[in-house]
Amino acid sequence: MRLSFCAVLWLGLLLGQRSAYALLEVFQVYQPVPDAGTGNDQCAGVELVLVDHDFGYSYGLPYVNFYEPPPCTFDTVRINLTVTSMGRQYDRLAILYLGDVEIWRTSTAEPTSNGIAWTYVKDMSQFNALWKEKQKIIFDLGNIITDVYTGYYNTTLTAYFSYESNVKTPDAILPISARRSAQNSSSDFEFPSENTTVLHQIPSNTTRAVVSIAATGQSTEEFWWSNVFTSDSWSFNNTIGELYGYTPFREIQLYIDGLLAGVVWPFPIIFTGGVAPGFWRPIVGIDAFDLRQPEIDITPWLSMLLDNETHSFEIRITGLDVAEDGTVTFSNTVGSYWVVTGTIFLYMGESAQRYSPSFVPKITAPPPKFTATRDLLQNVSGDNETLTYSITAERTYTVQSFDYAWSQNLSYSNYGILNSQGLSQSNLQHTSGRNQLTGGKSPNEVAFDYPLVCNQTYNLDDGLSISAWLRRGLDIEATGGLGISTYTLTSGALDLHTEQQGTAFYQSTSEDSVSYGETKDVFDSNASGVSYSRKVHAVNSSVVYDSDSRH
Ligand SMILES: *[C@@H]1O[C@H](CO)[C@@H](O)[C@H](O)[C@H]1NC(C)=O
Ligand SMILES: *[C@@H]1O[C@H](CO)[C@@H](O)[C@H](O)[C@H]1NC(C)=O
Ligand SMILES: *[C@@H]1O[C@H](CO)[C@@H](O)[C@H](O)[C@H]1NC(C)=O
Ligand SMILES: *[C@@H]1O[C@H](CO)[C@@H](O)[C@H](O)[C@H]1NC(C)=O
Ligand SMILES: *[C@@H]1O[C@H](CO)[C@@H](O)[C@H](O)[C@H]1NC(C)=O
Ligand SMILES: *[C@@H]1O[C@H](CO)[C@@H](O)[C@H](O)[C@H]1NC(C)=O
Ligand SMILES: *[C@@H]1O[C@H](CO)[C@@H](O)[C@H](O)[C@H]1NC(C)=O
Ligand SMILES: *[C@@H]1O[C@H](CO)[C@@H](O)[C@H](O)[C@H]1NC(C)=O
Ligand SMILES: *[C@@H]1O[C@H](CO)[C@@H](O)[C@H](O)[C@H]1NC(C)=O
Ligand SMILES: *[C@@H]1O[C@H](CO)[C@@H](O)[C@H](O)[C@H]1NC(C)=O
Ligand SMILES: *[C@@H]1O[C@H](CO)[C@@H](O)[C@H](O)[C@H]1NC(C)=O
Ligand SMILES: *[C@@H]1O[C@H](CO)[C@@H](O)[C@H](O)[C@H]1NC(C)=O
Repeated sequence: MRLSFCAVLWLGLLLGQRSAYALLEVFQVYQPVPDAGTGNDQCAGVELVLVDHDFGYSYGLPYVNFYEPPPCTFDTVRINLTVTSMGRQYDRLAILYLGDVEIWRTSTAEPTSNGIAWTYVKDMSQFNALWKEKQKIIFDLGNIITDVYTGYYNTTLTAYFSYESNVKTPDAILPISARRSAQNSSSDFEFPSENTTVLHQIPSNTTRAVVSIAATGQSTEEFWWSNVFTSDSWSFNNTIGELYGYTPFREIQLYIDGLLAGVVWPFPIIFTGGVAPGFWRPIVGIDAFDLRQPEIDITPWLSMLLDNETHSFEIRITGLDVAEDGTVTFSNTVGSYWVVTGTIFLYMGESAQRYSPSFVPKITAPPPKFTATRDLLQNVSGDNETLTYSITAERTYTVQSFDYAWSQNLSYSNYGILNSQGLSQSNLQHTSGRNQLTGGKSPNEVAFDYPLVCNQTYNLDDGLSISAWLRRGLDIEATGGLGISTYTLTSGALDLHTEQQGTAFYQSTSEDSVSYGETKDVFDSNASGVSYSRKVHAVNSSVVYDSDSRH
């Protein structure tokens, strides 16, 4: 953010307890994915190495490989990403594609001089329609090696196949992406610099359709939840430089033929260099290895999409503009930049609905309700001392067709303070909402809650030091819909509560840098009837308590 937290690196000075040769195991706390079936199906035990590559000078040069489906019947595909890294390096965003379709978004942990390793296992069966065909695999992990940033990301990605699940998965999958796989390139859109509009013809026997949205803020938008009103960007220029604008509110919008089809109020993801790196070693932030992709059910739109014509799909991201009199409007753009794709999942049936041609569903989207407050106080010498600001937002949206209705009810607030001439900042943010599909054979409801409080204080007297504390959570309650949700990561009901809290300290001087941190992580989940709980407490790179004895 202000001082580019990504530049905050850890030198690995605190690994004294470990042998010099053991790689520190970093991990995300998540519900373990069941082992591949040990049944005697043809595919049991079949594994393919999809990626085996050391990502060094890989910026704009993704790894490209060809995939051929194994010659056996499978309905379940799991992947295992295992990475080692040694030296210094930034955290990096990485995206896995099958052709032009993004199938997974992850990020890397920051290495130490003695080295780190991590593994993440994920069910990828939602993409069976693609796994059944030959594909070009593209894994984009843009890394840069220099004299200072020496860490490679040495990566192995293995896929395991089996026949076991019986979960219905989509019959066809279409990308809302830049579709650059033919040029061996990553297909993400960069927003706002690129136009995200794509055209698709939807097969006429489609009976259900869902769009998943992958959107990640980077650079001036990485810490969007701590951004200020644009008019305050220069309030503390003398102490901390530019503050990024468009307020701390973001909305990601999906448009079909120029009509709003639903919105996403994003989860405040924090990567492993975020705020202060001491929070995130060895426990990385919530979802850092598996960025959930929220879903917008577009089944009510099928009435106008099944006319054998092409229709446009577009993803936009907006922050807010706040006028001097406090009036709040969408900015219809954001700072640079967001990494964006969408995926359209289509389920087909024998007897597709027959609609009068091009019936436009009924959309009820009243303007969101916003409030904004802002106060800038000067010290006795007339210099800016304290900025307080807040945004609240509420919105409902419903789209309704003959058989289906999809509705959203969203609520957001953020209270920010910068004091000490901007050297200390705290934000208290809360996003919650409920999305509901009614009608048809598989109604579905997803409710979520994302609380976050983060306080960070800078000292620039001797180099840079940061002391920070935070507490954050992710709660999801979902009834389970069709297929494996790219958001709940399961096919059935989900009841998830997870929380992280911690303190971290970082100091760098011309000679040295040190980092400390303490993080407590609580995870309680019941996914498709399987429950899993874990509590972990880590202090200065060591796990001091872990309720899961398998680790
Ligand atoms: C994941 O793959 C690595 C090797 O790439 C292997 O050592 C590890 O055992 C695998 N883990 C799981 C859970 O499959
Ligand atoms: C990663 O790969 C690089 C380049 O191939 C190699 O020099 C380095 O030793 C490897 N690092 C680890 C931690 O395996
Ligand atoms: C794309 O990558 C593949 C595999 O490395 C290579 O065979 C092919 O020539 C490349 N195509 C282009 C257009 O660069
Ligand atoms: C984006 O592209 C679409 C289709 O090509 C076009 O209709 C639209 O005007 C473009 N939008 C912008 C903002 O340039
Ligand atoms: C104080 O803040 C205002 C509003 O952001 C800004 O225009 C002004 O330049 C700031 N003053 C100083 C001395 O930085
Ligand atoms: C911010 O400060 C820099 C130098 O520190 C100066 O060049 C720039 O003009 C200032 N910007 C504003 C808008 O005050
Ligand atoms: C649908 O459109 C395609 C061309 O895009 C055409 O070949 C096909 O005959 C059309 N199908 C029907 C049922 O009209
Ligand atoms: C849907 O129609 C396509 C042709 O457009 C056909 O290939 C596919 O088998 C049909 N799927 C179902 C489930 O009927
Ligand atoms: C007011 O703020 C300015 C700029 O940050 C600082 O130089 C000055 O010492 C402060 N004055 C007092 C009385 O704290
Ligand atoms: C949205 O949720 C709030 C809080 O749960 C509730 O009071 C309100 O009635 C809901 N609005 C709609 C339109 O569903
Ligand atoms: C952040 O926390 C510190 C210590 O708890 C406190 O002194 C400081 O005022 C807080 N900063 C803000 C902006 O609230
Ligand atoms: C997990 O959820 C299922 C329903 O999906 C419920 O029957 C079961 O009691 C739950 N288990 C626990 C431990 O809460």
